[in-house]
Amino acid sequence: MVYLTLKLHHLTSKNFADLVRESSEHLPDADTIKMLEGKGTEETVLYILGILTPEGRMVGFGMYASGPWDPILKPGYADVTIKVDQDWYHQGVGNWLLDEIETLARERHSKALQTMVRDNNDVELDWVNQKGFEITNHSFESRLNVKMFDIHSYDALFKNLEASGIKFTSLAEYTQDPDIEHQFWDFWWKLVQDVPGMSDKPRPDNEKMMNMTRDVDKEGFILAVDDGTWVAMSMAIDESEGVVYNSMTGVDRRYRGKGLAQAVKVKAIEYALKNDAEYMRTHNDSENEAMLSVNEKLGYERRPGIFGLTKLI
Ligand SMILES: CC(C)(COP(=O)(O)OP(=O)(O)OC[C@H]1O[C@@H](n2cnc3c(N)ncnc32)[C@H](O)[C@@H]1OP(=O)(O)O)[C@@H](O)C(=O)NCCC(=O)NCCS
Repeated sequence: MVYLTLKLHHLTSKNFADLVRESSEHLPDADTIKMLEGKGTEETVLYILGILTPEGRMVGFGMYASGPWDPILKPGYADVTIKVDQDWYHQGVGNWLLDEIETLARERHSKALQTMVRDNNDVELDWVNQKGFEITNHSFESRLNVKMFDIHSYDALFKNLEASGIKFTSLAEYTQDPDIEHQFWDFWWKLVQDVPGMSDKPRPDNEKMMNMTRDVDKEGFILAVDDGTWVAMSMAIDESEGVVYNSMTGVDRRYRGKGLAQAVKVKAIEYALKNDAEYMRTHNDSENEAMLSVNEKLGYERRPGIFGLTKLI
């Protein structure tokens, strides 16, 4: 019945304004589509689908992306999003989008679809489960109010580490040349492979990572050094006014259990304070006990999280 009046369109940032007259605030807008279009390269296969009423109201949104996309999207996997206007739930709109996306995925020889759903959204979770997606991971954001952080309570930790020969610095302290940048991203990858769920992910090109972080302040890329060798890192990225994002933190296996993760994260917090941040945010995988424990000790508070799900096709 719904199929008689609704129509499926391939949307782009260029045709969006002509086709979409009205939309729920929960569905992506032209700016989001523009951002998605800018995320890939010429080899990326990106389909943006919109289901519209005859009056131009968007009631469903779908996205399929494969090829060069997220740096750690596995080969053969496609990143998929399906969103339906809540007023149009249970009328077949989501099924229609998924059928269309699966057809496109088969034509493009994708072997799996992956998607993300908020862990407090039972309706979406039931739906993706019913459609054959299986949970592969759970991650959540946690936040730290940096203004309340007592940096001096870590003085003894730094005293001990510095007495053992460890020095703390940032990537900004090194001459910015491609050799140092490659060295940084090689070290990053060595540590990333120990993050739960990352060991089978493809390695992103150093060049890609360098381009993605070209304009990021390297003073926030904290490094711990032992006798000239990098042994730990924590990346603090000034994200928006008042917010610093704490991305990858890792410690060389031979140096774990000495408080180095805490120390580099405290340096990252120091960077956030220097940049007048209100809070820091970070993401944790629920399986990563070590990192969860480090963050808890620092005072990070947990927020609702996200399930990663995969469907083999
Ligand atoms: C997570 C990681 C950074 C911890 O490094 P670390 O230097 O060993 O951690 P610290 O010595 O600073 O430990 C701080 C606290 O965390 C806790 N902790 C550390 N490892 C733990 C583990 N495996 N299980 C449970 N708790 C752990 C300890 O209780 C410690 O507190 P304590 O000193 O009061 O006992 C390290 O294991 C690592 O590099 N893992 C791979 C990369 C990763 O997963 N990064 C997170 C994604 S961003």
